[in-house]
Amino acid sequence: PMFLFVCSSIVIGECKIINNVRHEVRKFPEDFLFGTATASYQVEGAWDKDGKTENIWDHVTLTNPCVVKDCSNGDIADDSYHQYKRDVEMMRELGLDFYRFSLSWTRILPTSFPDKINEAGVQYYNNLIDEMLKYNIKPMITLFHWDLPQKLQEMGGWTNPEIVNWFADYARIAFELFGDRVTDWITINEPHQVCYHGYGDDSLAPLLNIKGVADYLCAKNLLLAHAKAYHIYDKEFRSLNGGKIFIALSAQWYDAEYEEFVDAAKEANDFTWAIYSHPIFSETGDFPPVLKEYVAQKSAEQGFYRSRLPEFTEEEIDYVRGTSDYFGLNHYLTYYVYRNESVVNYYESPSFEEDMGVITYFYDEWKIGESNYTKFVPWGFYKLLTRIREDYGNPPVIITENGFATRGGLNDEDRITYYRHYISAMLDAMEEGSDVRAYTAWSLMDNFEWLAGYTERFGLYQVDYESPERTRTPRKSAFVYKQILRTRELDM
Ligand code: NOJ
Repeated sequence: PMFLFVCSSIVIGECKIINNVRHEVRKFPEDFLFGTATASYQVEGAWDKDGKTENIWDHVTLTNPCVVKDCSNGDIADDSYHQYKRDVEMMRELGLDFYRFSLSWTRILPTSFPDKINEAGVQYYNNLIDEMLKYNIKPMITLFHWDLPQKLQEMGGWTNPEIVNWFADYARIAFELFGDRVTDWITINEPHQVCYHGYGDDSLAPLLNIKGVADYLCAKNLLLAHAKAYHIYDKEFRSLNGGKIFIALSAQWYDAEYEEFVDAAKEANDFTWAIYSHPIFSETGDFPPVLKEYVAQKSAEQGFYRSRLPEFTEEEIDYVRGTSDYFGLNHYLTYYVYRNESVVNYYESPSFEEDMGVITYFYDEWKIGESNYTKFVPWGFYKLLTRIREDYGNPPVIITENGFATRGGLNDEDRITYYRHYISAMLDAMEEGSDVRAYTAWSLMDNFEWLAGYTERFGLYQVDYESPERTRTPRKSAFVYKQILRTRELDM
């Protein structure tokens, strides 16, 4: 890891020379699996076809078109609703072991509730699953990847405690419909983004922006909803085929450049992702103690009569603890942290920075390529995996997302550099004992990148948005990924 740090902080040309000196062939464990991922709203299109009703992303893009950077939306997106056979063909070209995709709640349940199942929507997913299985590609289904039914949002969405039951009903129907053929289930994708960016600020739908209150309410309800889906699967469906069910958490890595801020960095990790992992994976359960303490303290200072962070009852703590068969991990970014209580202004910076009194920053040298999105800090990935191993008794991990954004083009050398070094950092952690079972590249192809629209491209395949069939063309990185999968080796 120190080597990677040195390597990542200098220009890439020199980095290659160092790599040549270091040259080694790294092997993956025999049963290690590789996949790619997408999500329903980002690729399906057909937003109002065959009985599907409105979700929160349809709603925000319809009512406020230029809320998205390029004034685009997911109305057609990659048209995967019609192009799914091509998608499966690409999975075969890459040689994937599995493909992670998500279900659109309102395509399956147009009223949001279990009273009416939309056959056409179910047929679409059956077609996709069966086509994949024909070629031995395992489906990994995410139940919720951000496209909440608009009707549920009008009733408060993730801030309404009833969502625990709404989500559980939807999950049970999905298990009934597809559980015979699907063995890998992800309940919810990236709770931090759902709650913090959807409810705490306004960088994702539903753009609620009630910071430090709605985001924390969402966190509690979401954890209970996840746990309920887990228990349903565990009791009623697991015996079908011994499948697995887990949550996909997004974790950026927060680190300290200076010794005096080591605690601050640890706490930043607690606030942004351990808020979700501690209740599920720690021995004690519940929100991380430091989070409870800081929010209570800050709330009191602000004149609240009680903490803005809702409490779990003892019974709820038990109900949530241990409810994930894997630690599903989405990782992209690393930041440094320093403590500075004086400069924070509650309504202007992220609530976790406010509630903790820290500031985050990064170095421009960490950036490669033209996109602002991804930074090149492979050692952050290594350290994150190490902390997960140490804090939670080495749980089995599935990397459910990792990837790199460009502005487009087929010759994506920066993406290749990123993948090779992040995968290598993952292998470093595995050599030290981290139990990583699978790796998922985000993404199979370019797609609708939320409020960035089509300006940030994450695909191993490029998608041509001018062509009606959304032609997909492999980038150079697709060939590199394919080579890693075929040889089960990383040549560094
Ligand atoms: C996180 C999300 O799960 C996914 O939807 C998004 O496109 C990628 N990471 C890239 O931002």
